[in-house]
Amino acid sequence: MTLILGLEGTAWNLSAALVSEERVIHEAESTYKPLYGGIHPREAAQHHASELKNVVTQALRGAKKEGFSLNDIDAVAFSQGPGMGPCIRTVATAARALSISLKTPLIGVNHCIAHIEIGRWQCGTKDPVVLYVSGANSQVLAYRSGRYRILGETLDIGIGNALDKFARYLGLSHPGGPKIEELASKGTEYVYMPYVVKGMDLSFSGLTTSAKDAINHHKTEDVCYSLQETAFAMLTEVAERAMAHLWKDEMLLAGGVGANRRLQQMLQTMCHDRGAKFFVPENKYLKDNGTMIAYLGLLMFNSGETTPIEKSVVKPNYRPDEVEVTWRDKSK
Ligand code: ATP
Ligand code: FE2
Repeated sequence: MTLILGLEGTAWNLSAALVSEERVIHEAESTYKPLYGGIHPREAAQHHASELKNVVTQALRGAKKEGFSLNDIDAVAFSQGPGMGPCIRTVATAARALSISLKTPLIGVNHCIAHIEIGRWQCGTKDPVVLYVSGANSQVLAYRSGRYRILGETLDIGIGNALDKFARYLGLSHPGGPKIEELASKGTEYVYMPYVVKGMDLSFSGLTTSAKDAINHHKTEDVCYSLQETAFAMLTEVAERAMAHLWKDEMLLAGGVGANRRLQQMLQTMCHDRGAKFFVPENKYLKDNGTMIAYLGLLMFNSGETTPIEKSVVKPNYRPDEVEVTWRDKSK
């Protein structure tokens, strides 16, 4: 059995977890909540620095209660990127220190791929088209010949960011996504919004601007409803086209925005209509979590991949298609 300690802290959530092949042994977390406005990278990093000891200690104590000791840990995995520079640097420094003191290898993992692999593990889906929607990212991906290929993505901001920005404009606190969802559920009238799909790519920033304008003439609930309907229809269209072109009959939702019930419903309907299966993990595995980092670390460790300290520099713009996937298609 392999035991991996994973650290996540690319943005708002600091989390540490211990994972084996069989199960999640323990996860601990501490969330940064901005006093006002959005996530301030330096403040979030400061939060992570002051909470790291606490969160890691809690995770290790949890594992101890389950009968594991420090000596059982085979490697320390951390989010090498993408993410906010100050945040990922802080967590990477802690990961390096832990790997040195535990005398175990270090494994730098790609945060986006961790979102995908935890979903595949938890839902038992083999080869899905993935819709990865979070604060900073919105991508449609699928695995092919040793890499997760990005088939389509946002050309400007992530969908979560678009929702958070509009929520902030309404005076709602971060994160805004769940609050917009709540308001949208009470909307009844569709207000026109720009639907921007270019080939397989998407754009959301104009949508936020348009929602801000619409608020002067329409009910808040109706604007939230229209914002969601438009953005989620765009995502569903691109996700469906990817499935059609690749002849795939499984769809996996990943990332924090995946918690949205209306988005889940639209994707479910689309999949049902084309005879495909739709998979979505529990909310705790959609948002940023240490378990997904430990789990991808475990897959990489078991296929012989570790990261020497000199190659552990963080990558704020790390793209999932830069990673050679060595843990799938063992036969090749
Ligand atoms: P990444 O680095 O992968 O971009 P992230 O730092 O944005 O991740 P996540 O936890 O994956 O973190 O996603 C957070 C986003 O999810 C926020 O923008 C938040 O508003 C959004 N979100 C959370 N719940 C909901 C919901 N129910 N509806 C819509 N958006 C939601
Ligand atoms: Fe994330």
